[in-house]
Amino acid sequence: MPLARSWSVTSLSNLDEWDEEFDLEDAVLFEIAWEVANKVGGIYTVIQTKARLTSEEWGENYFLVGPYTESNVRTQVELIEPTNPALRRTIDKMNASGCKVYFGRWLIEGSPYVVLIDVGFTAWSLDRWKCELWENCGIGVPWFDREANDAVLFGFLTAWLLGEYAAQCEEPPHILAHFHEWLAGLGLMLCRQRQLPVATIFTTHATLLGRYLCAGNVDFYNNLAEFNVDKEAGDRQIYHRYCLERAAARCAHVFTTVSQITAIEAEHLLKRKPDIVTPNGLNVKKFSAMHEFQNLHAQSKNRIQEFVRGHFYGHLDFNLDKTVFLFIAGRYEFSNKGADLFLEALARLNYLLRVNHSDTTVIAFFIMPARTNNFNVETLKGQAVRKQLWDTAQSVKERFGKKLYESLLVGQLPDVSKMLDKEDFTMMKRAIFATQRQCQPPICTHNMLEDSNDPILTCIRRIGLFNSSSDRVKVIFHPEFLSSTSPLLPMDYEEFVRGCHLGVFPSYYEPWGYTPAECTVMGIPSVSTNLSGFGCFMEEHIADPSAYGIYILDRRYRGVDESCNQLTSFLYQFCQQSRRQRIIQRNRTERLSDLLDWRYLGRYYISARHMALAKAFPDTYVYEPHDSTVSGFRYPRPASVPPSPAHSLHSSPHHSEAEDNDEDDERYDEDLEAEKDRRNIRQPFALPHHRLHT
Ligand code: UDP
Ligand code: G6P
Ligand code: GLC
Repeated sequence: MPLARSWSVTSLSNLDEWDEEFDLEDAVLFEIAWEVANKVGGIYTVIQTKARLTSEEWGENYFLVGPYTESNVRTQVELIEPTNPALRRTIDKMNASGCKVYFGRWLIEGSPYVVLIDVGFTAWSLDRWKCELWENCGIGVPWFDREANDAVLFGFLTAWLLGEYAAQCEEPPHILAHFHEWLAGLGLMLCRQRQLPVATIFTTHATLLGRYLCAGNVDFYNNLAEFNVDKEAGDRQIYHRYCLERAAARCAHVFTTVSQITAIEAEHLLKRKPDIVTPNGLNVKKFSAMHEFQNLHAQSKNRIQEFVRGHFYGHLDFNLDKTVFLFIAGRYEFSNKGADLFLEALARLNYLLRVNHSDTTVIAFFIMPARTNNFNVETLKGQAVRKQLWDTAQSVKERFGKKLYESLLVGQLPDVSKMLDKEDFTMMKRAIFATQRQCQPPICTHNMLEDSNDPILTCIRRIGLFNSSSDRVKVIFHPEFLSSTSPLLPMDYEEFVRGCHLGVFPSYYEPWGYTPAECTVMGIPSVSTNLSGFGCFMEEHIADPSAYGIYILDRRYRGVDESCNQLTSFLYQFCQQSRRQRIIQRNRTERLSDLLDWRYLGRYYISARHMALAKAFPDTYVYEPHDSTVSGFRYPRPASVPPSPAHSLHSSPHHSEAEDNDEDDERYDEDLEAEKDRRNIRQPFALPHHRLHT
């Protein structure tokens, strides 16, 4: 039997003391998600970044469960023999019964164990299991919905795994299973239906109906309580998926969502109020030198500039040193992610910059994967031309250097007019001729499969942002996630974000939104909205978010046109900042990192787990929430920002352009400011206090 346990949290700063008090000795945690070692979107980021903290807490008793795919395993997982004897017997038994279950270590921070199930290998059971699902639960899954078929296989296989594991344990086990998102939800339902000795948690990262309704031009937030959910799901042909999701939420011992806004949505659409909100964190990297992240920005920006030199060859009539890089990234949900609003605001920004004769150029990147047929020729040619110009410059430089050297060797100053000969000029002219181009620099880097009805391209055609010389705003659409092995833009996503100036995420539907959170911990300002979990969280905890480079767009109380004007004004103000102002702002943004660290936010997960254990095993665990929410902490305004709201909109200290390159000075000012802030901030924010004991 487990030892008596007690748990209390009194503040965010006593992590060690708090960890020591809790004994998880014989409990075993399975965390189950379709995105374990399988990148699709933000859920992968949740699981992957949280693994270190969860492994620290659960050690050898922590197992992630996901789908097996060969390519993922080849690149991310080291297959090994199962370490836990009961789990080894379980996997052996399943494999002897026609399954393919693998065990390994996921090669990420924390190196957690993973159990990966090849759902395709057991597809022969699909019809039988669907029949069972229909007979026992009244949920009928149509044959053509491939994702739902996978969910059925994954659900039955994970329930099998947990049931078998319980049977293989010598002592009655304390199993805790945490399921993420509807794709994993069926496993939870089956655990409850089969009455397995498993404490269950279901976390929803979005609701299916929410995603569909928002994408379909519905006034979602004003009608949350009015939707006829069954009908809406039926109309969209997702009734079976909706049933799986709703059943998982309703059956779980503990139900959680990633933000308050999704909690309200879940209450109306899934008909259960979450027991606790579990916000998403990140692993915050601390550099020994405070300004290291600024250096990384400069290095990555150089690499983006190199790419831009190639992309705009023949049309490099703008000053790269006065070019601001904006970007939007994520799964391609055109209106849910606010790409529509961003494009419209870019068109307005283009107009504003032109009429005000601004010398700033804006390049806006759209990183959203769509169906393509590889890179297009024009884009690849751009990088080839740039490379050729570079090589030409290098060889002329070498020949020039040699002549210079020879002349110095014989004690003469060189005759500069003879340093370059005819051959050099021919070589240079040929290279310059190669940069002539008849067309505009391309918008899209790839050949799109659905070019004519792609939403981004269609919108660009309508608003006329074609990368012409007179445009102050240029657009590059890269319809593929970034990778350091790309022949075009060989940078991984993190490097790319660091090199940009502002992330723009004007989402309409965004339960959390990792992309702006990732910007924050890298010290890159971002735009989010008060309809995103992240935006609301930051609004709650920071007194003047825009002073810290966290621009929160109002999409809740304003019409689309008004929100678009607000976004345009954010962007225009941002473009007017000097280099020095941008540097100061980045320093402030980076200072918010602690707020998003799993070391703090992980506690909500811990709380959910203890709550579930207490509900499922009441004889062993007791969960006593006390002193419920002690909220209200807010990061104060940065010391040097004038408190007036009029100034706080454009929140950087005033100074002249001439000071622009005086970076050492301003770092000193900024360090003082950071110190003042630190003295004001005792703990990032307060948590509910709970106690768990026998
Ligand atoms: N992302 C990535 N490569 C890219 C662009 C985005 O890995 O080129 C990741 C990004 O780091 C983030 C995730 O995709 O963690 C998107 O998560 P988010 O929560 O913003 O949105 P979701 O796609 O889950 O709705
Ligand atoms: C960092 C670097 C500076 C560089 C600056 C560019 O702060 O440490 O050396 O000048 O970035 O900032 P910008 O906003 O113009 O890209
Ligand atoms: C979902 C949501 C996203 C959230 C992510 C991780 O995919 O769309 O907003 O950040 O899950 O919770």
